Amino acid sequence: MISRQSLVISASTTALALLLVYAGVADRGERAAAAPPPPPPPKGAPPAPVGSPPGPVNNKPVTTTTTTTITPPSLGTPTLGLGTFTDPSGQETSLNESASATLSNPFFHALGTNGRACASCHKEDQGWSITPAAIQALFKSTDGLDPLFSTVDGSNSPNAPVATLTEREAAYSELLNKGLIRIGLPIPSNAQFTLASVNDPYKFASASELSLFRRPLPATNLSFLSTVMFDGRFTVTGDSIANDLALQAVNAVSTHEQGTTTPTSEEIAEIVDFETTDFTAQSFDNTAGLLDINNADGGPYVLSQQPFTLGENTPFSASFTPDVFTIYDDWTALPLGAKSAVTPTAAEQSIARGEQIFDTRPFTISGVPGLNDVINRPSFVGTCTTCHNSTNVGDHSSVVYIDLGLTDPGRITPDLPQYTLKNKATGAIRVTSDPGRALVTGQWSDIGKFKVPTLRGLAARAPYFHNGFAPDVNSVIAFYNQRFQIGFSPQEQTDLANFLKSL
Ligand code: HEC
Ligand code: HEC
Repeated sequence: MISRQSLVISASTTALALLLVYAGVADRGERAAAAPPPPPPPKGAPPAPVGSPPGPVNNKPVTTTTTTTITPPSLGTPTLGLGTFTDPSGQETSLNESASATLSNPFFHALGTNGRACASCHKEDQGWSITPAAIQALFKSTDGLDPLFSTVDGSNSPNAPVATLTEREAAYSELLNKGLIRIGLPIPSNAQFTLASVNDPYKFASASELSLFRRPLPATNLSFLSTVMFDGRFTVTGDSIANDLALQAVNAVSTHEQGTTTPTSEEIAEIVDFETTDFTAQSFDNTAGLLDINNADGGPYVLSQQPFTLGENTPFSASFTPDVFTIYDDWTALPLGAKSAVTPTAAEQSIARGEQIFDTRPFTISGVPGLNDVINRPSFVGTCTTCHNSTNVGDHSSVVYIDLGLTDPGRITPDLPQYTLKNKATGAIRVTSDPGRALVTGQWSDIGKFKVPTLRGLAARAPYFHNGFAPDVNSVIAFYNQRFQIGFSPQEQTDLANFLKSL
């Protein structure tokens, strides 16, 4: 049992570590002005030091890998604007060169009444989401009394008793086991359906507030978004993503942080600036090593240079290309990856094969509401990039919501509520654990639809999908293999997993 004393110390140590990372960012301007020009980057260097002009993408000198044992880079000395953290398959790095990227940004401060900040659920060392292992450690070190453990949306029901440790363990089980937050949303008054019945193991949900258990989406790489939130509820047609993010932040303060006053427009602007200038990617893989050497374009620096325009790669348009990810092209075994002067290692080649599988491995896509019905093609041959199509990021480049069947009865785990919805016009019945987009539009046809999330920085933020259905990338691949009858070979699954973990 960890004592209160050590809890205080460890909490402040963590804060200090974060502060160190951001302290560098904070006074970046002055230091960059005063400092002599930085030396040329070493082999497998982190992103170019702040102050030097960004080098052209894909024009890095060819470097060679000579070592066989791979030692992760030390985490001891944070570089300016750069925070690197260990994750289950290596290291992930965030890069933020904006002046707003300091610990004084309101993102890191409690703006409401319950002591939580945005950073309570969007943590840099967890891919700007939160993960069950870290949540459990926080629960243990605080006896479940950290502000994260608040009944407003941290517990399975707002009415759950939390007076004793045992009660808290039970009350916060979705958060502890799967990193899920309870989003409470009503059935809209104009909905084409009613709630015929509800089976909520936690005895709270009703038509006026359904309990929807969802993962915190990563609060990074947001400049690439086409929609905000899993159900797009803060996406206003014709508005910029920055405006959508401002709406989202105001709402997050009043809901998650139980704010009683609206944050100032300056605070919101600072949060949005921070969010849209933050770039996060896997930078080191335990097996392949650094992900930006030998001409590869992994890590956050190249990502920060990646252009994005809404609708840039819409499937079935004349300009659509399935060749969405090109990060590891040059790790393809020679002679294909002929740009590289050295033969990529076996681990590097596996990642490159995984990228090719993601871009080009064909399978039949049928019965996907939001896709097949919209284009009026009940079945067609596509790839992972039919849906994950924004260049080198992997969300959907246009505004689209898709039902993969993750909320259908066959896949609802017993810990999640089940809602039986009834179509007002036809009397048709549909059972779901989360109506998704339908709670925003009220449309029957939108039940079970969610946005396609970005895929960079995946390794640090398991479990995956809106409801944490997949505990790891292998389970994601197993889901798709089964859902679309893809028939991946074991080697294909390994390669694809290695690629996803290197994003
Ligand atoms: C209690 C946990 C919690 C807190 C605190 C919290 N969030 Fe979130 N955040 C979530 C969850 C859960 C989602 C996904 C909800 C959904 O899609 O319905 C989310 C989604 C987001 C998204 C959407 C990203 C995307 O890809 O669409 C942004 C942006 C975001 N949060 C920013 C913030 C900001 C800014 C704050 C502070 C003002 C904040 N969050 C506070 C849990 C939290
Ligand atoms: C028909 C469209 C479609 C196809 C094809 C598709 N995806 Fe997805 N993907 C989605 C949607 C929609 C989500 C979000 C679903 C949810 O959370 O409910 C998603 C989520 C994911 C996630 C989880 C991201 C996160 O942050 O939780 C991963 C990883 C992923 N997909 C990988 C793949 C791979 C690998 C393939 C190819 C084998 C693939 N996808 C094919 C639509 C698609």
